[in-house]
Amino acid sequence: MAETAELILNGQSITLPVIEGTEHEKAFDIGKLRDQTGYVTLDSGYKNTGATKSAITFLDGEEGILRYRGYPIEQLAENSSFLEVGYLLIYGHLPTQAELTNFSNQITKHTLIHEDMRKIFDGFPSSTHPMAILSSLTCALTGFYPESINPNQTADEHNLQIVRLMAKLSTIAAWTYKNSVGHPLNYPRNDLDYCANLLYMMFSFPTEKYEINPVVVTAMNKLLILHADHEQNCSTSTVRLVGSANASLYGSVSAGINALWGPLHGGANQEVIEMLEEIHKSGGDTRKFIDKAKDKNDQFRLMGFGHRVYKNFDPRAKIIKKAADEVLHALGLQDSPLLKIAQELEQAALTDEYFIERKLYPNVDFYSGIIYKALGIPTEMFTVMFALGRLPGWIAQWKEMRENKEPIGRPRQIYTGELERNYLPMAERK
Ligand code: SDX
Repeated sequence: MAETAELILNGQSITLPVIEGTEHEKAFDIGKLRDQTGYVTLDSGYKNTGATKSAITFLDGEEGILRYRGYPIEQLAENSSFLEVGYLLIYGHLPTQAELTNFSNQITKHTLIHEDMRKIFDGFPSSTHPMAILSSLTCALTGFYPESINPNQTADEHNLQIVRLMAKLSTIAAWTYKNSVGHPLNYPRNDLDYCANLLYMMFSFPTEKYEINPVVVTAMNKLLILHADHEQNCSTSTVRLVGSANASLYGSVSAGINALWGPLHGGANQEVIEMLEEIHKSGGDTRKFIDKAKDKNDQFRLMGFGHRVYKNFDPRAKIIKKAADEVLHALGLQDSPLLKIAQELEQAALTDEYFIERKLYPNVDFYSGIIYKALGIPTEMFTVMFALGRLPGWIAQWKEMRENKEPIGRPRQIYTGELERNYLPMAERK
């Protein structure tokens, strides 16, 4: 007998079907609630509300579990590559060697961006935040590929847009950085894999040979894998909502980039490093900053701590913390003062009642900035790196929403404004 829930309302009993996922998560299906009762539900921030059913990523915030298409994040971070994980998220299975080679070759073939895009870069003031440029140029792709606006494209045509976006976002990201520091732009190289190419485009100069450091490439792959998807987070929900209006993939991802930019979301990785640098500059007094984070009258929050879903350790934070140690040692940066401050801050918070009571643990952003900094990525580009990592997740979620023919997203509200009143001529207004 299928489980149901009974809602008793004004003496009337409403039966709500209960649906159960493959990991035994359960939900009341309220799809007919308003028709049956005239009531809607209210859940600010959607803390208790499922927006969709998805087969892409499973996470368990209490147990600190994260799996992409059933594969534990720990195994993917250890054994896979970013493009292989991207294929897994988007197409639902680990690729055969032939599938991976084809996917990788397709992406390599599409890394060049239209020369007219250079003019758009030139239109931004040098002070523009890279995330503003990334979202603008992502949306601008609809101008260079107008067919992408058509929601009724064939699967192959959609696939070409997917490959183009996976390929070109890394070039746009690298050129955004080069443009911000006034360095010559580097064209992508077809003899380099995804991460090596990204590093080459970001850090090489036409005046000298650029040595690709395998330690950095490995760390970059791991970071991008760890950021690749995270079920219905703020930016992914944005991509799905915008896409549900039949907006193009490029327009939907551009919206997701802007959501990710928020300091409470992906923008936190930049905030963490700026916080660690501020602590370092002010003498390394971590206790002072812990107290600030606990002070209700102080806006300051311990950036990189806490999570809407993880009420235990963020599994990604554990992997990134270990990788931070390894990378900094490999690069001879093990005495980094910021790493030491981060470790002290983590220990202080994890033993402090305020954080324990609120189940605030380090999240994916707490240590990632330390690695990005060690890899030479400038602070303002940290969230761009997050966006590059999250791209296959956004694409996979957008594709799933479209393939499932989900309706346009349109939440309801409870109105709390003025009752009906008549227009007031100017002379009668006070
Ligand atoms: C990401 O959703 C995802 O999956 C996101 C993400 C992904 O992969 O897409 O995992 C990536 O966005 C990670 C989170 C990055 N953000 C930060 O590190 C910013 C700092 N963290 C917070 O602002 C906060 O923890 C959130 C936004 C992440 C979560 O907020 P919630 O779940 O809405 O928690 P809340 O704001 O309701 O806080 C609950 C309590 C409050 O105190 P009380 O009112 O109960 O007294 O905890 C406190 C908050 O003040 N609190 C913090 C805190 N985070 C929450 N206090 C100090 N420092 C913090 N970091």
